[in-house]
Amino acid sequence: MIQQIDMTKVEAHAGKVIGDVAGALSLFMAYIGDQAGLFDALDGEGRMSLEQLSAKTGYNPKYLHEWLGSVSAAGYITFHPENETFSISPEQALVMGREGQPACMQGFIQAVVSQYEEHEKSVETFKSGQGRAWGEHSQCLFCGTDRFFRPGYQAHLVDEWIPSLKDVEAKLKEGAKVADIGCGHGSSTVLMAKAYPNSTIHGFDFHEPSIEEARQKAKAAGVSNVEFHVATAQDFEGDGYDFACIFDALHDMGDPVGAARHIREALKEDGTLMLVEPMAGDSMAENMHPLGQIFYAFSTTVCTPASLSQPVGLGLGAQAGQKRLTEVLEEAGFGNVRRSAETPTNMVLEVTG
Ligand SMILES: C[S@@+](CC[C@H](N)C(=O)[O-])C[C@H]1O[C@@H](n2cnc3c(N)ncnc32)[C@H](O)[C@@H]1O
Repeated sequence: MIQQIDMTKVEAHAGKVIGDVAGALSLFMAYIGDQAGLFDALDGEGRMSLEQLSAKTGYNPKYLHEWLGSVSAAGYITFHPENETFSISPEQALVMGREGQPACMQGFIQAVVSQYEEHEKSVETFKSGQGRAWGEHSQCLFCGTDRFFRPGYQAHLVDEWIPSLKDVEAKLKEGAKVADIGCGHGSSTVLMAKAYPNSTIHGFDFHEPSIEEARQKAKAAGVSNVEFHVATAQDFEGDGYDFACIFDALHDMGDPVGAARHIREALKEDGTLMLVEPMAGDSMAENMHPLGQIFYAFSTTVCTPASLSQPVGLGLGAQAGQKRLTEVLEEAGFGNVRRSAETPTNMVLEVTG
């Protein structure tokens, strides 16, 4: 059969890919800018010439020239051709620098870079169909994940997500026993420990280096009502918990039903599980947008391999959606699942019963 090729469509598609190539390289330039402190060096300085930026940072003007050209063309900073200077607006600075602000995207970018860093392992894993444990990724992924999620937790966890749950905030203020399962570097755990000094927060994760990092974080934050344990979600110790939470980790687990069942058994009868998962619709058709594009990609190289590397290996995927998550929670024995809050990137499910 002779295929008719519409060259206009080919050109439009090639143009789209060129835009994606530009984006991929821009993220790499953004990462260099982050690691070299360049966005912060520009921040608050008004217009700077190449020479001024070089004098301030000590970096080779040959490299700076090329880098400035790329990030200006990307719109990450602004080039002023009339006097060949560069500036970063407060809005650009909030996204590209200013660590710890909710708008800072550098953690997200760092997580992307981590995937390119070990691209061969990802290709091998994909072709083999076998799992790849969370711990087999580069350190850059663990730091990037924490750095990306932390500002969102800072902005929403204590002020919106916990108050959206029935009766939980009052218990935490009074003094409750809490489990943060799959806690990673422990940012959510430490946040809750700070906000609810009468409660004891237990952070669990099976990745020992992450638990080590979490302990350092708690020490640096000066909180004493937090304990970190190396344990899996399916067999962590203790019972009588008033509140359990899982932040962006259930879909990474091999046996999310087993984990949820164990959590249900560890909770008091009137206890609550708060499940925070990536925002997603219930069907692939509903996820055909940039966030879906991003989450399915991370799921291809990180989340699904992490799940497949564990017993059961359900491979829920990072875009499971509320309907599928509810099935998992109901299979584990929970009776009620309600979306109590959401952000553009996360859904918060209140799980009881
Ligand atoms: C995407 S990270 C999220 C970490 C943290 N909750 C956060 O929001 O920054 C997923 C975490 O789940 C942990 N994890 C995956 N499967 C687990 C399991 N079966 N038991 C305990 N932790 C698990 C990983 O080690 C990793 O730290």
